[in-house]
Amino acid sequence: MDDFIAGLPKCELHLHIEGTLEPELKFRLAERNGIELPHATVEEARAAYSFDSLTSFLVGYYESMDVLRTEPDFYDLAYAYLAKAVSQNVRYAEIFFDPQAHTSRGVPFDIVIRGLRRAILDAERTLGIRAQLIMCFLRDLSAGYAMATLMESLPYREWIVGVGLDSDERGNPPVKFEQVFARARQEGYLLTMHCDVDQENSVTHIRQCLDVIGVDRIDHGVNALDDSSLVEEIQRRGLGFTVCPVSNGFVTDGIKAEEIRRMLDLGLRVTVNSDDPAYFLAYVTENLQAVHQALDLTTGDLARLEQNAFEISWLPRAVKDGYLAELTDYTRTQG
Ligand code: ADE
Ligand code: ZN
Repeated sequence: MDDFIAGLPKCELHLHIEGTLEPELKFRLAERNGIELPHATVEEARAAYSFDSLTSFLVGYYESMDVLRTEPDFYDLAYAYLAKAVSQNVRYAEIFFDPQAHTSRGVPFDIVIRGLRRAILDAERTLGIRAQLIMCFLRDLSAGYAMATLMESLPYREWIVGVGLDSDERGNPPVKFEQVFARARQEGYLLTMHCDVDQENSVTHIRQCLDVIGVDRIDHGVNALDDSSLVEEIQRRGLGFTVCPVSNGFVTDGIKAEEIRRMLDLGLRVTVNSDDPAYFLAYVTENLQAVHQALDLTTGDLARLEQNAFEISWLPRAVKDGYLAELTDYTRTQG
């Protein structure tokens, strides 16, 4: 089964590019930019960073980004991720980036997006992987700053497929960003939002995503299972979930495998993704392996997870169909 998982053509839909900053690259960028890090070695840095909740995770997460300063830094970050993804047979990735985590430190929006975009174009050409960018707003900052960031993104509109919402959910409900997301919709962006797992008011927040924001997809979102009317509405709209099991294992009480099983059984469009793989030590293959170990998935279940992912991806229909045909071919010959 490990071989089947390794070879499966994959689609990654929940991946924060800043969360792919491996300590080795962090040290390299620090040196290039003349920044002194508080730890002497990669091992020391890893050992010093501990967290057990979304809030505590995010503290060290944002601190680490200080090494990302120039266009080549963002290029190197994204190219390294895309090369790693190719090694796991990821055929297509939708990549979150957090411009405000950089503009708030004085790094211009233009530097961030140009580096990421150039890496995607190079990787498409040289590695054969395809990718698109999703711009996330930081929900613990003001709606005004999010709106200003949305406006700043408009000249780069063609390089961004949609917008999302991440960072600390506590006290920062979807409705806080109602106007920002309405404007993003008007500008032609697709919409998603983090509904992090086991947060205060999780069900209310997911309901707001549907009724107030009108999302096209839900990031995480397993607490929808707590409310049958939510499940029915999500089924009716055919919305997908980007679940990140190993990440959930770090910041909640488990990898939520049983919830993934229930979602599959309900015919919900659930997918398995990696979130912040440099921090949770698991890229998409290891996430699929973790769920397989917990649930003893069949090859059909595993193929279904990737089929769901290509289906709910923000690709044109004809491109989706190409990947789905590849997946069918793989399961027919290897399944
Ligand atoms: N930023 C990076 N990873 C995140 C997550 N899992 N939830 C919210 N914000 C994030
Ligand atoms: Zn996330």
